[in-house]
Amino acid sequence: MYEFHPYFTNDGSVGLFNTDFDDIYHSATGALTEAYEKFIYPVDFDSLLKKKSIKILDICYGIGYNTKSFLNFLFENYFLKNFSEKNSIKISSNKYDIEAIHTNNNLAGKEKILSVNNDTIHTNNIIKPASLGIYIRAIDTDKVLSYLSPFVRTGVKNISNQKFNFQYDKINKYLTCSKKILHPKINPLINYLIFEKIQDNCNDFIENGDVFSILNSKDFVQYFDSNIRGYFNLLRNQRYNKSSFDNLSAILHNIYYRNISNCYKKRLKTYKLQDIDFELKNDDARKIILKDKNLYNLIFLDAFTPSKCPCLWSYEFFKLLFEHLEPDGMILTYSTSASIRNAMQAAGFEIGNIYNERLGKFSGTIATKDKSLIKSPLSEFDLGLLKTKAGIFYRDENLTALNEAILERRNSEVKNSDKMSTSHYNKLYKSVKKV
Ligand SMILES: C[S@@+](CC[C@H](N)C(=O)[O-])C[C@H]1O[C@@H](n2cnc3c(N)ncnc32)[C@H](O)[C@@H]1O
Repeated sequence: MYEFHPYFTNDGSVGLFNTDFDDIYHSATGALTEAYEKFIYPVDFDSLLKKKSIKILDICYGIGYNTKSFLNFLFENYFLKNFSEKNSIKISSNKYDIEAIHTNNNLAGKEKILSVNNDTIHTNNIIKPASLGIYIRAIDTDKVLSYLSPFVRTGVKNISNQKFNFQYDKINKYLTCSKKILHPKINPLINYLIFEKIQDNCNDFIENGDVFSILNSKDFVQYFDSNIRGYFNLLRNQRYNKSSFDNLSAILHNIYYRNISNCYKKRLKTYKLQDIDFELKNDDARKIILKDKNLYNLIFLDAFTPSKCPCLWSYEFFKLLFEHLEPDGMILTYSTSASIRNAMQAAGFEIGNIYNERLGKFSGTIATKDKSLIKSPLSEFDLGLLKTKAGIFYRDENLTALNEAILERRNSEVKNSDKMSTSHYNKLYKSVKKV
């Protein structure tokens, strides 16, 4: 049985807990908010969009927040830049037409309310992704999670987290926090786009039994978009030649979900979103990237914490990523750990902080080949920290070692090292500053 432990994070998006890694997949304060703040807001989109094509590598795709946030941000802020309700003519005549898509994406003070009806799409001012060329390669070992990515809901209001079937001490403190944050939302069209891409590229998507069971389990229905799930079930019934025309209600359901899919398809075409190239690889990221010949403009690195998943944070892994980054490309990650930053630097990267405007503090790391792209350089204190024991990095010479072996090796290196301990460095730094 596949272990699936969802809950609602404080921004109304779904978060997950992994019992094997004993780690959360997403920040409990807001899974989608975190994706925007760590992976999207630090990107200079105006420069990026001057390129003929954009290549993105999403390492540890999970349920896809980083890729979907990227596409959603582009869609809402660029593809629809000059689109407004004002210049649209509403003709809602199709009785099977799905509800208008309402998006209220007001992170970082950017308030925007957008209503798109199937018959009210204006194409005059749309930046067409077809002429831009967007290629996204997403990697994750967990196929079931990747396949669930197009169904996951965001922006859910009045969330309730009562029945947990896992140890949630780690997230409880966030969930009981009364300060809810804004409700960003992924446009359903973006979810449908991912659905289509996975369906086109992965033969076993519709057949996957775990995905089907999770989507249709009564414990989990609240976490998934019912329209896309309905369409998935329809395709699955067709695949197994199950007659879904037994009764009137089944016939109406089929017509309804078929129409929903047709509406989405039309919209994808109108916005040329179907030209976006999305490729999913379900294997160890090291294996996939070793065989990859691409150079990327953006690399999202969203692995579990270094102490749980060191194989994706080693010096050798960063050297591999260095070979796959464009000269003006960027790696973005949530980690601020000294060992990670030191490994990045040793692999040849320039490194800087990601500044989180909402929290008013640094909350991640940017690695580039071009120093001029660093907006918030590391402080004198942070640079000194890299030279202490905390800066000793993980090693994985052949890029094949197990996490346990990588951890063990670093632990023994830290133990035997005569570098300054982090606590001693902290004390020393404070006393020198006082003088
Ligand atoms: C913190 S979660 C990523 C969350 C994700 N970005 C999202 O939006 O849902 C870490 C992910 O790393 C994946 N993972 C663990 N080891 C991996 C490996 N060696 N290669 C690729 N993916 C791995 C896990 O399956 C998990 O989905």
